[in-house]
Order: sequence, then structure tokens, then C-alpha cells
Amino acid sequence: MGMAPRRLARGCLRLPAPRYCPFCHNPRRPALPRRMPADYWTNKSCVITGGSAGLGLAIAEVLARRGARLLLVGRNAERLAVAAARIPATAAAVEVCPADVTWQEDVDRLAATAQEKLGGLDMLCHCAGRSTRGGLYDTTPEDMQQLFDVNCLSAVRLARALVPSLLTSHGHLVLIGSLASKTALPYLGGYPASKHALAAVAQQLRLEFGPQGLHTLLACPGPIHRDDAGERYAHQADGIPDSAAKPGGGAKIAAIDPHRLSEQILRACERRRAELIVPRSAKLLFTLAQLSPRLGDWILRKKT
Ligand SMILES: NC(=O)c1ccc[n+]([C@@H]2O[C@H](COP(=O)([O-])OP(=O)(O)OC[C@H]3O[C@@H](n4cnc5c(N)ncnc54)[C@H](OP(=O)(O)O)[C@@H]3O)[C@@H](O)[C@H]2O)c1
Repeated sequence: MGMAPRRLARGCLRLPAPRYCPFCHNPRRPALPRRMPADYWTNKSCVITGGSAGLGLAIAEVLARRGARLLLVGRNAERLAVAAARIPATAAAVEVCPADVTWQEDVDRLAATAQEKLGGLDMLCHCAGRSTRGGLYDTTPEDMQQLFDVNCLSAVRLARALVPSLLTSHGHLVLIGSLASKTALPYLGGYPASKHALAAVAQQLRLEFGPQGLHTLLACPGPIHRDDAGERYAHQADGIPDSAAKPGGGAKIAAIDPHRLSEQILRACERRRAELIVPRSAKLLFTLAQLSPRLGDWILRKKT
């Protein structure tokens, strides 16, 4: 007798198995398995902008270890050649395409090259981007425009050129944002505004193309470990607090290992997640700041 209500409750809570993919909401696609096969990335065609350095190169190296076909993009052809030589031989193919993602003609050429050299597209990881330092008052509209161009408008250009191929493969569009896509630290010039705009682009693409099978991921990492950390913004340090010239604008967060972050990004793609925030603890700050901006500002002042 005592068991009946519990059994009833369990029965009531049992949900019917989804008849469509709960991530992309495409009724024609079956629900994804909880774990993707180990060879998920083998022979997948991936374009990585900013693939010649930093996080973009780390993502390329991790994809290469999984047997993917790669097209690395950056402005400097020599730097691209050096990066391509570093890619593990386990990659199914490594191609390079010198292109500036702030130029429409270059993006059109990149789309044609991806079609020609990769024969289709399963993933576009847009990693090219630029950060800066400086007070907002000292940031000119021209500085701001340049940052918007490379950090946000480039994503619009690339999406317009490559989303049709990604729709064919039900592929992944990965936009590399930052913790600054969710919160604006002081003295980062126009960077937080440009990365906030990128977050809006990601959400809109997710809503507009998700039902047709496109997976859009916005990755929002904190400061990433790099050898030149600490010196990178030395030339922009005039007139701002010393801490602001440090990685992450002085945020008290441990630097993230780029290869570990790359693994997390690939896992988030396999699970067709909408967002990846690293470190995860930052989510609490973002939630509190949404509920109470003054509390959010107070925490940010304590943490920078
Ligand atoms: N580093 C961090 O701590 C951190 C933290 C959070 C988020 N992020 C984000 O992660 C991404 C990568 O940052 P990173 O610091 O790893 O980069 P990075 O080391 O400065 O490398 C930037 C890459 O992008 C390419 N690039 C820059 N402008 C380009 C353009 N207009 N067209 C095509 N390629 C261009 C560069 O090659 P060329 O110079 O040859 O063009 C290079 O390959 C950025 O979006 C950044 O905002 C970085």
C-alpha cells in the first residue's frame, strides 16, 4: 500500500522519449546519443579562422589528433605555413587560406576555397579576434569600429558565406567569444561591447537556423594561457591601472590551458550545446549581475 503513491509519482514523471532532436529541434533528425562515437571528428571538414596562433592553433591541433580535415585561415601566409607544419600528422588533410575576415572579398574567396579543398563543411570555428586595453572614454569611435569589424561583423560575413554548407551537413558554427561576451570589465576599450554583440549574433543564428539543423556554439573563455602573457598589452598600459594590463583585464582567474579548452569546445559541439562558459563558476556572477547589476558591479570590483 505504502509503495503505490511513490510508484504512481514515478509513472507520472516518466517522460515520453523525444521524437526529435532536443538540441536542434529538427523533427527530421533522431535524438542524439548521449555519447558521440570516438571517431566523430574523423574526416570532418573544419575551417578555423585565427588558426595560425593561440586558441585557433590549439583547436586545430586537437582536431588533427582526431583525424579531421583542416583549413587554417589567417592574414599572414608565412605564419600560416609555420602553423600548418606544426599540425600533427594524424590530420586527414591540412590546407591553408590566407584571408582577412574583415574583407568581404577574402571571405568569399575563403568560402570557395573551403568548397574546393574540403569538398563541403562540417565545422566553422571562428577564432580570429583581437582584444585591447584602454578606458572607454579614450576609445575613439574608429577604434571601436575596428574591433567590431574583426570581433563581430566578421562572424556575420562568415555566417552569410558558409551557413549554407553547414546546413547541408547539419554542422557546427563555433563563435569564440569571451567572458567579456557576458560582462564588461573596465579598461578593456571596445572589446566587451564587440564580444557582447557577437553573443547576440550567436543567439540569433541559433534561433533562426537551429530548427534547420545548424548547431551554433558560443564559447566564452576567461584568460587563456600564453607565453607572452603580461607583456601583450604593455604598449597600451598608459593611463590605466596596472592590473588592467594583465591577462583577463586583471580578473582573478587562473589562466586556461588552450588544449584543454579546445577539448571542451569539441565536446560541447558533440553535445550540440548552445554555450560554453569557462570557468563554469563565472555563470553565477552572470546570473547575479542579471538580477542585480549593482551587486554584479560590486563582485567585479572585488574580483579585478
Ligand atoms: N587570449 C585570451 O586570453 C582570450 C580569452 C578569451 C577569449 N579570447 C578570444 O579567443 C580568440 C583567439 O584569441 P588568441 O589570443 O588566442 O588570438 P591570437 O594569439 O592573437 O591569434 C589571433 C589569430 O587570429 C588571426 N587573425 C587576427 N585578425 C585576423 C583577421 N582580420 N583575419 C583573419 N585572421 C585574423 C591571427 O593571424 P594573423 O595575424 O596572421 O591574421 C591569429 O592566427 C579571440 O577571438 C579572442 O577574443 C582570447
